[in-house]
Formats: sequence, C-alpha cells, structure tokens
Amino acid sequence: MADEIPEAPAAEAAHAPDAGLHLSLQGVVQRFPAPDHDGEITVIDGLDLEARGPGIVMLLGPSGCGKSTLLYMMGGVRPFDVPSPTEGVVLVGGQPCEGAHDDVVMVFQRYGNRPDLTVRENVAYPFRFKLWRDRVDPSEIDRRVDEMLEAVGLADKAKLRPSQLSGGQNQRVALARSLVLRPRYLLMDEPFGALDAQTRDEMQRLLHDLHQTHPCLVVFVTHDITEALTLGDRVVVLSTRPAQVAADFTISEPRPRSTTWHRSTEAQRLEESILKTLHGGSGHGHLRVSV
Ligand SMILES: Nc1ncnc2c1ncn2[C@@H]1O[C@H](COP(=O)(O)OP(=O)(O)O)[C@@H](O)[C@H]1O
Ligand SMILES: [Mg+2]
Repeated sequence: MADEIPEAPAAEAAHAPDAGLHLSLQGVVQRFPAPDHDGEITVIDGLDLEARGPGIVMLLGPSGCGKSTLLYMMGGVRPFDVPSPTEGVVLVGGQPCEGAHDDVVMVFQRYGNRPDLTVRENVAYPFRFKLWRDRVDPSEIDRRVDEMLEAVGLADKAKLRPSQLSGGQNQRVALARSLVLRPRYLLMDEPFGALDAQTRDEMQRLLHDLHQTHPCLVVFVTHDITEALTLGDRVVVLSTRPAQVAADFTISEPRPRSTTWHRSTEAQRLEESILKTLHGGSGHGHLRVSV
C-alpha cells in the first residue's frame, strides 16, 4: 500500500488536511482462548466503527473490554497465538488491513525509548530502517528530526539520554518519533496514563498543537472521561465485554477547550451521559449524540 501514497513535500504535508483518511471496522468479532484453556471468551462481538478524515476519535471503555485489541487490529498488529479479528473486516483507507501498515503508527503508555541512544537518536530511530529511509529524502531527515524536537520542546535536550528525562519528556520523545514519520493514522493506547495530572494536561495540549500542524486521523484509547472530553472530536464508548459500540458522541466545541467549557452545562451533561453509558445505564443499542 505504501506505493499508493505519494510522498508530499514537507511543508504541504504538514498542513494539508488529508481527505482520504478512513478507518473502518465491520462486524468485528474477537475470540481468545479462555485463560483456563477451557473453551473461548468473546472479547469483541460484532463491532462496527467508521472514522473518516483528520480528527481525534477517543475510544473509552471499561478495563478489559478489548480497547487495546481493537487498536492493534487497526494497526495490523496480530496476537502471536490467534487470528485477529476472528470474524469481520478491518479496512485502512478502504483496503483490508493485513499486517503492520506503513501509514499507521502506534504510541503506547510505555514509551519504548532506547536507553542507550540520545533523545535525538531516539527521534531519528525509524530512519535506521530501510522502509523509512527510502520514503524520505536523506537531506530531509535531519531537518524533520530537528523540527520535531522543536515542536515537542526538547531541542535543548537533544543530547541527553532517556534516563535523564522525566516521564512526560520521555513520552514527548515517543510522540516525536511517531510524528517524524508523518503518519496518516496515529493510534494511541492510553499514552498519558502513567503521567501526573499536570504533565498529562501539558501532553494533551501538545497533542492538540501537533495535530493542528499534522492533521492525521488519531484513535486515542483512554479510560479518563476528562481526557476524552478535552481531546475528542468524537468519543466512542464501548460496552463491557463482549465489546460493542454503546454510544458515539460528537463534540463540536473547538479545541483547545477552556476550563469554562469543561464547566459548562453541555460538558457536564456529556460527562453524565458517558458515565451512564459506561455503567450500563444506556449501554444497550448504539446511542448517537452530537453536541
Ligand atoms: N493474545 C491474547 N490471548 C488471550 N487473551 C487475550 C489476548 N489479548 C487480549 N486478551 C484478553 O482480551 C481481553 C481484552 O483485552 P484488552 O484489549 O487488552 O482490553 P483493554 O485494553 O480494554 O483493557 C482481556 O481479558 C485480555 O486478557
Ligand atoms: Mg488496554
């Protein structure tokens, strides 16, 4: 699929919204062997989800409901032991997702920075692989890495090692390493879950800023309602296992969202509806709400 995507000149790639972005999960079922090896458990049961265009889709759901499993499916990362999905179809840009995909990059709670490399080397790390070297002009690589270091506020820490950085700074390195590739799809699995509240706020703001300059399609898994309301153009709430989409909220309030908005009746109602859905109050059927 990489062949179908022309390499846009840097400046344009950073600003032009990409209208062809499309993730589609159709009738997705995921079964895993039960932990006691007695039969199977159905983790996801006939889930449908469509996401188009640049934007941030927050995926919220109870622990163990299958959020990471869904994200891995979209990223083409298969479990080593079972087929995934068991049934149904996952399309990325209209094409069946049959393995790790060049346009899709994942960010995890564990930063995955290499301790032996400097901050700069960590950000530039993907370009050690031929796949990425071939896609970016050599003269462009250094420029992109510098630009990303600047964008995440780590230009002055470029020569340090991950152990010399805080958790938030390490997550900035991971974000920079992902975005230096200019992915069309960014899949984030509770990336800020291990950070303290203030650092998390800063990272949310940073993600917003980076998304402004690089408007990709982000699917962001969280279990934090405030985070979902802070970042989401949409908040998709999953039911308890077996997971289905229980509710799908569209939030029209532009980002960054002020404290005043978070305290507004609209935001409070939204939070209550999400909580109710999470606790099963209106979790039956597929509730669609736009605010
Ligand atoms: N490869 C696997 N083999 C067996 N069970 C798995 C595997 N991956 C995930 N599970 C199970 O599927 C369920 C959902 O997992 P996960 O997607 O990680 O949930 P979440 O991210 O929503 O907390 C959990 O019960 C987990 O133990
Ligand atoms: Mg998870």
